[in-house]
Amino acid sequence: MHLSISNIAVFLGFFARLAACSADKCALLASNISVANSTVITYDYLLNGTTFDLPGTVESCGGPNPKASTTANVCRLVLTVTTSPSSEIQLEAWLPDSPAWNGRVLATGNGGIGGCIDYATIQNGAGLGFASFGTNAGHNGSVGYDFFLNQPEVINDFGHRAIHVEAEVSKELVHQYYGTKARKAYYAGCSTGGRQGFQNAHLYPEDFDGLLLGSPGVDWLHIVASKGILARRIGWPYINSSAYVRPEQWPAIVEAQIQEFDALDGVLDGIIDEPTKHRFDPMSLTCGTGLLNSSLCLSPQQVESVRRAYEPIVSSSGQIVYPAFELGSKTDVFSANQVNGTAKLSYTILQDFWRGAVFNNTHWTPENFSESDMDLAISINPGQVNAAEKDLSSFYRKGGKIISYHGRNDETVTSALSEQFFTGVQTALDVTLQDMHSFYRLFFLPGMHHCSGGPGAWSIGNAQKYPYDKKLLDSKHNALIALVSWVENGTAPETIVGTKYEDDVIGGNITAQRSKYPLHPAPHKFSALRFSQNIAPIHLLAGGTGSMMQA
Ligand SMILES: *[C@@H]1O[C@H](CO)[C@@H](O)[C@H](O)[C@H]1NC(C)=O
Ligand SMILES: *[C@@H]1O[C@H](CO)[C@@H](O)[C@H](O)[C@H]1NC(C)=O
Ligand SMILES: *[C@@H]1O[C@H](CO)[C@@H](O)[C@H](O)[C@H]1NC(C)=O
Ligand SMILES: *[C@@H]1O[C@H](CO)[C@@H](O)[C@H](O)[C@H]1NC(C)=O
Ligand SMILES: *[C@@H]1O[C@H](CO)[C@@H](O)[C@H](O)[C@H]1NC(C)=O
Ligand SMILES: *[C@@H]1O[C@H](CO)[C@@H](O)[C@H](O)[C@H]1NC(C)=O
Ligand SMILES: *[C@@H]1O[C@H](CO)[C@@H](O)[C@H](O)[C@H]1NC(C)=O
Ligand SMILES: *[C@@H]1O[C@H](CO)[C@@H](O)[C@H](O)[C@H]1NC(C)=O
Ligand SMILES: *[C@@H]1O[C@H](CO)[C@@H](O)[C@H](O)[C@H]1NC(C)=O
Ligand SMILES: *[C@@H]1O[C@H](CO)[C@@H](O)[C@H](O)[C@H]1NC(C)=O
Ligand SMILES: *[C@@H]1O[C@H](CO)[C@@H](O)[C@H](O)[C@H]1NC(C)=O
Repeated sequence: MHLSISNIAVFLGFFARLAACSADKCALLASNISVANSTVITYDYLLNGTTFDLPGTVESCGGPNPKASTTANVCRLVLTVTTSPSSEIQLEAWLPDSPAWNGRVLATGNGGIGGCIDYATIQNGAGLGFASFGTNAGHNGSVGYDFFLNQPEVINDFGHRAIHVEAEVSKELVHQYYGTKARKAYYAGCSTGGRQGFQNAHLYPEDFDGLLLGSPGVDWLHIVASKGILARRIGWPYINSSAYVRPEQWPAIVEAQIQEFDALDGVLDGIIDEPTKHRFDPMSLTCGTGLLNSSLCLSPQQVESVRRAYEPIVSSSGQIVYPAFELGSKTDVFSANQVNGTAKLSYTILQDFWRGAVFNNTHWTPENFSESDMDLAISINPGQVNAAEKDLSSFYRKGGKIISYHGRNDETVTSALSEQFFTGVQTALDVTLQDMHSFYRLFFLPGMHHCSGGPGAWSIGNAQKYPYDKKLLDSKHNALIALVSWVENGTAPETIVGTKYEDDVIGGNITAQRSKYPLHPAPHKFSALRFSQNIAPIHLLAGGTGSMMQA
């Protein structure tokens, strides 16, 4: 149509009225909200692309005054929801205009010790038309212990309650705002977010229809405890002792692993596809053998330390309770443990959680951390945080779907845990592998670090990672869309194609793509993928264009 000045005025006027109308609707929702225990703190109707302040954000969540930008025209609400006489969660709601709303809810979780709203996933969700929600899980801040000290109800929120309350309030808000119920409810989270999702499926199976669970921190207390136990196995905190393996030695140790095992998966790409299949003997790095020079080689005591670094975690009674650290992974747990010559773990969650929630002792430090400190935490299980329960039978029976993914270079949560969890769920349900795959599929991403990043083709529409690549918004490349298509169309994902971008800039130049396969349908398949800046892009789609090998 030809737009005259007056036409444009009419045109703009139309949108102005539409926006005004949506703004009124947003204000009405905020003023007339009827959700139990909820109080609206702020609300605003924001046009797509609006950048706005997040005042009051604590430093460890990006404060003091970070900004966020909308990805759709949204009614944004911030609420507090009281969860007990002594606790409350903060809730963030982005409600896209009804023509753009896709009829669905997307709730999100947290990372680490919680306390920060997952704006990245909310932005992605709202951009796709989801009514999108986030929560601080009951406390502000991802570093610290005082929010847990003497606060059992705050620990309950973080441990198991926040996501359930988020699910219920989200659905209620959607009903009130749009005048109709959401047709489906989804959840996406990574790390602690993955833990929250699995736990939710166990405790509150009615909450969601589909769960996208990355690098899940199920068995959370063992994961966190492993940081202290592994650090101590390599001599920490005695950083001048002959057993201590120094930070500068670790890259050489990992490189030796890659040299030894990379080729065994059929592709020389600097990535050990299946680290659990190999055993590493650090003897080859002993001083005098010639592999490492005199400044990096291992003394006999250090050889023993490295050997123990890659052994599973064992409880005080001698049971294996957590799988071995991943070969070929980043080694922060071993190499980021001193500051200016003083022993100090860069991984702060151990000290924070044991101080605030396990020991209730503001002076406790992890220098003498032992298996009995781990076992004690397990026996207390503050706020039911451990979430290792494998009975997902109600979620299974109601037809819920889970897509889980885990990087095989995960330096924080070893990916073998996901494999064990999957097998454990199968045992708990007593069903066939085919039945398992009818509701729960686990994808391993070789060469992905914790939740995202790393040398592999890791981008699959990961939770907590904004933005999505707009060119790859389909069920083959984006795990959230794959989940929706499974829940609503019954199309189970056989393959998810991971994408590697130049400099890891999502949406930038693609340097490689790679098919991922669900756990267990043997034989394992490897795609003939070669990373090279000179050969881009490489497209390897479903059906295994790559070579097949018996694992
Ligand atoms: C306010 O909320 C109540 C209860 O949910 C509802 O009955 C009423 O229609 C709402 N008022 C307006 C103006 O929407
Ligand atoms: C968290 O911070 C928000 C402001 O961003 C505040 O409204 C809320 O009360 C805080 N919650 C707690 C539990 O401190
Ligand atoms: C929001 O704006 C961005 C940038 O212009 C655009 O790419 C996106 O499609 C818009 N989102 C919606 C839901 O309209
Ligand atoms: C409201 O909060 C109280 C505790 O303060 C709790 O007992 C009750 O279950 C909550 N109601 C709902 C609907 O969540
Ligand atoms: C935590 O310790 C403080 C002081 O040491 C004590 O007053 C408080 O009762 C303890 N709280 C719990 C839950 O044990
Ligand atoms: C380690 O040795 C260095 C000098 O050799 C010394 O400055 C430092 O204090 C020692 N650190 C510890 C923890 O003993
Ligand atoms: C040992 O090897 C490393 C890495 O190749 C190198 O940076 C370092 O200079 C070497 N040191 C000696 C003493 O040769
Ligand atoms: C470490 O030492 C540097 C240089 O002396 C100093 O700037 C820095 O503040 C120190 N860091 C800590 C955590 O003490
Ligand atoms: C760790 O144990 C040693 C030996 O028992 C003791 O000297 C030291 O004070 C302890 N350190 C901490 C931080 O508890
Ligand atoms: C479901 O299938 C319909 C019809 O083939 C298609 O239009 C729609 O995009 C699919 N939805 C999803 C989420 O895959
Ligand atoms: C993509 O590659 C082209 C050609 O090498 C280059 O000009 C461009 O800057 C790259 N784009 C990005 C986003 O890196």
